[in-house]
Amino acid sequence: MDRLVTLPIDRWDAAASAGDRQSAIAALESGSVVWMPRLAFEFEPGESGLFDPNLGAQAKNISLDPQRHVLRGTSADAAGRDLLQGMMQRYADATGALVHALLPGYGKGLNWGRTSFRPCEIEGRRSSWRKDDTRLHVDAFPSSPTGGRRILRVFTNVHPRGGTRRWRLGEPFEAVARRFLPAIPAPLPGSAALLHRLGITKTRRTPYDHYMGRLHDRMKADLAYQSGCEQIVHEFPPGGTWLVYTDLASHAAMRGQFLLEQTFLVEMAVQADPARAPLRVLEKLLGRALA
Ligand code: SIN
Ligand code: FE
Repeated sequence: MDRLVTLPIDRWDAAASAGDRQSAIAALESGSVVWMPRLAFEFEPGESGLFDPNLGAQAKNISLDPQRHVLRGTSADAAGRDLLQGMMQRYADATGALVHALLPGYGKGLNWGRTSFRPCEIEGRRSSWRKDDTRLHVDAFPSSPTGGRRILRVFTNVHPRGGTRRWRLGEPFEAVARRFLPAIPAPLPGSAALLHRLGITKTRRTPYDHYMGRLHDRMKADLAYQSGCEQIVHEFPPGGTWLVYTDLASHAAMRGQFLLEQTFLVEMAVQADPARAPLRVLEKLLGRALA
């Protein structure tokens, strides 16, 4: 399967054809990116002030909880916050319509995660190696364990002046897991309960969350792996949207500015091909249940 599968979708609320629905689910669950070069997200005329890298305070992300309507990570004044929240809520609603039309089989197994706006240039940003998303990784949430639920993300490049977003895509998940898993120690007995009691995690980490977090870290810490593993570079121009299981596809974001992103957490029970999910791949390799 190609790393990138292109679909002709150009409207957030359009009914998807049976062919597009089938291609989308097969591509996503096998770790490919579904790329919709004509699916743009438009800012309204009064929102052009939001193309401002200083809105983000110190954070990489301005984030919205689209169900509780809570905005975080911005230094904007009250009027700016209202504009941001309106724009981001519109993006959340648009992506919700898209995933329900394109992935109807997921139905109630699709749960809302955060909406993010990233107005800062990635290239040259300073961060710790663990937070450095210019290094190839699979996503895992250190403080919000998913317990095996999948991380499905919708990304839209909204750069107003043609700036592309440059990604790298790495080797298939099973190859990553086979390479790093043997050196990852099992979780210490009692550690999941302790992390939860100390408030380091919001819920109790399952062994799955432990292994995914360690995989994320080991990939990023290994500089020889970063430069030497099988990989491709892809540029996403503005005016297009892509969808990807970021817990499955090894990815890195190298440069670009002005990105919108919506996260969905997808239940294992609704996967079309659960054997390909990171949970089942890790369980196969380790020979035990992890969640
Ligand atoms: C990431 O998910 O690692 C970053 C994606 C991006 O900001 O383009
Ligand atoms: Fe990531």
